[in-house]
Amino acid sequence: MDFKKIGVLTSGGDAPGMNAVIRAVVRAASKAGVKTVGFMEGYQGLMDGNYVDLTTGDVSNVISKGGTMLYSARATDFKTPEGMEKALKTIKDNDIDGIIAIGGDGTFRGATDLSAHGVHTIGLTGTIDNDITATDYAVGFDTAMNAVLDCIDRLRDTCESHARCIVVEVMGRDAGYIALQTGIATGAIGIVINEVPFDEEAMMQRIIRSIGHGRRSFVVVVSEGVKDELGKPYGERLTLRIEERTGVETRFNRLAHIIRGGSPTLRDRLSASMMGEAAVKLLLDGKSDLVVCERDSSIVTYDIKFALTLDKMYKNKLKPGDLSGFSSAEIREMEKLSEMRRQEFRDMYNAAITLM
Ligand code: F6P
Repeated sequence: MDFKKIGVLTSGGDAPGMNAVIRAVVRAASKAGVKTVGFMEGYQGLMDGNYVDLTTGDVSNVISKGGTMLYSARATDFKTPEGMEKALKTIKDNDIDGIIAIGGDGTFRGATDLSAHGVHTIGLTGTIDNDITATDYAVGFDTAMNAVLDCIDRLRDTCESHARCIVVEVMGRDAGYIALQTGIATGAIGIVINEVPFDEEAMMQRIIRSIGHGRRSFVVVVSEGVKDELGKPYGERLTLRIEERTGVETRFNRLAHIIRGGSPTLRDRLSASMMGEAAVKLLLDGKSDLVVCERDSSIVTYDIKFALTLDKMYKNKLKPGDLSGFSSAEIREMEKLSEMRRQEFRDMYNAAITLM
């Protein structure tokens, strides 16, 4: 197929490094003599025909900018047949030969639907949550974690002055990647994530013992997806229990969206650039319905349906029939990857406990 014009969009929660992906897409396409248009606000722009032409000049200096210059939205209408019809019309009327969609699992569901309607589509992982099981790394993760580090280091200073404990809730949706890794990197005394059972009493004992050794400040990192028996965010009531149980004055801090902004780190700029370039190559090679991932520092691709079903398997959300259509080798591969991710969590969590 002779590609003349491709589209790029960012969808779902924004992530630092999305601009670096857009830049890489525009530059790689331009080198191949292909024009790029950018759809505004993700699939909403695709449905509304709301797009801008993107030249290499338009993407100069965006590599260091957070957010997404194409804006983002969670366009629920796109899931309807009418929404899809509108998107297909935009693609046809504007001679768009393929789409690169940057985001998380919701974005990939949209991409695979487009692909099923004959549109060449490549997905690219961009989410601070890093919760795409098929990839080791999603663009935005490192910057978000560094923002958490900066905040917790500051919180640690004031806790040290006042002999306090701070319970910090971090984003990640249901995934504990951000909480676990930042917990280790800030010397937290407790890390609460959904992936590994939390022994609250053991943490209380660690705090009590540490007070005995003269320690004045404590950090506990909780992933936002962890809920208590009442379905309420775990961190808020844990804060009260820590104070009651240990006598240490304890405060709660929800970092929320503050960690989703800011200039992308080197890691994110690099991954964004490599993945963006790879996505264009795949599209121009006539590939479709693939998601660009990182495995052991190399770029790899998976069929989008494979990646989405793998996610469900890993999250124990498989429904009857979800695995039909996959070969037994593919199912084995999904089981292997799911177990590998679970093991990664257990290993890292065990190391974290040893170091607390
Ligand atoms: O997926 C990214 C993320 O920031 C999650 O960590 C968080 O749970 C969610 O998006 C917040 O969504 P919104 O920006 O719509 O409030």
